[in-house]
Amino acid sequence: MRDAVAERIPYSCQTVDARDASALAEAVSAPFLTQGPSVVAFEEAAARWTGAGHGVAVSNGTAALHIALQALDIGPDSLVWTSPVSFVASANAARYLGAEVDFVDVDPETGMIDPDKLAAKLTAGGRKPDMLVAVHLAGHTGGFDRIAAICAEHGVTLVEDAAHAFGAAYEDRPNVKVGAHPLSTAATFSFHPLKSITTGEGGMIVTRSEDLAWRMAMLRSHGITKDPALLSVARPEDGAWYYEQHALGFNYRLCDIQAALGLAQMERLDEFMAARRDRARRYGEILAGLPLGLPAPSEVSSWHLYAVRAADAAMRRALYDGLKAQGIETQVHYIPIPSQPEYRALGFRPEDYPGAEAYYARCLSLPIYPRLTDADQDRVRAAIAEILGA
Ligand SMILES: Cc1ncc(COP(=O)(O)O)c(C=O)c1O
Repeated sequence: MRDAVAERIPYSCQTVDARDASALAEAVSAPFLTQGPSVVAFEEAAARWTGAGHGVAVSNGTAALHIALQALDIGPDSLVWTSPVSFVASANAARYLGAEVDFVDVDPETGMIDPDKLAAKLTAGGRKPDMLVAVHLAGHTGGFDRIAAICAEHGVTLVEDAAHAFGAAYEDRPNVKVGAHPLSTAATFSFHPLKSITTGEGGMIVTRSEDLAWRMAMLRSHGITKDPALLSVARPEDGAWYYEQHALGFNYRLCDIQAALGLAQMERLDEFMAARRDRARRYGEILAGLPLGLPAPSEVSSWHLYAVRAADAAMRRALYDGLKAQGIETQVHYIPIPSQPEYRALGFRPEDYPGAEAYYARCLSLPIYPRLTDADQDRVRAAIAEILGA
């Protein structure tokens, strides 16, 4: 929410209005607060919108990654590669399952996995991964077709951490929505308040595979099934109450109240995407000429973030502090995962990922969200120009 007194511009904020409030009011009066019809309707809406065909709603984007990987048989013998420039959840999910994790370095200008580095790592003669968790950083999908083709060539299962990319399409395939790529096995989304749409906390996995969706839905709810065709040790006297646990699942359910909010938000997804793309386009215009690296224009990105690149780490720090002093919040996405103490303790060394270190040193996410005004953007530009003396 905007703070009028301090004239603070947050780096991001949710877009919630009276339509969401009335959907929520209706949801709390409905007979089912959880495991009711809204979750199914939300899953169907996301499956339809993305074109993936199947959706499984879960409690957050981290849970989405966890059960997607579990349903795809990632376990203690598995090796999973991901991007070092991501939120820690992208790597943690594999480790919850006992798998080994490694990172593919990124392009220092975009922060995205560099397809050449992926191909080189796969042909270097070391152990090949079972899976790549590719990250659509900021909602961008550039280069994904090449990454998908390389994974297919090497028999590596591809899962998309699309936490930032609900509503985006693929740069190489503008008519295909993220989640429906023919070479990807599943895509996971987050509905945290700062993402494309929100359910408070929440997440979703979409997939083209009915069987995979079914397994993920079972894992989301303790690994329990009531499907009569699957019950294996039922006694003749067992009635309609009977269920069996067939896997070690979790309570990762999204509730119907959250799903009702998600459905109300989804109705405005196109509007939110258009607004974010418009804001990104305008930043591209007004920031041109300043000594900053700007993200490549895109009409298909979900523009979860608008990340610029300073000339060096000192300039990035001056921008972050200087903008903050003027009530303009920015963020840094992300501190490379291999540099986290938890990952250093596993033997990772930041210097082994020079692309990630270089990207981290210079990146800064400027405010972007649908309600960001022209005046807000002009204020951001003026403040940057003043700090840089440009
Ligand atoms: C790239 C990425 N993956 C996964 C997650 C986890 O999502 P959640 O916060 O909904 O658990 C996030 C959250 O910000 C994220 O940015």
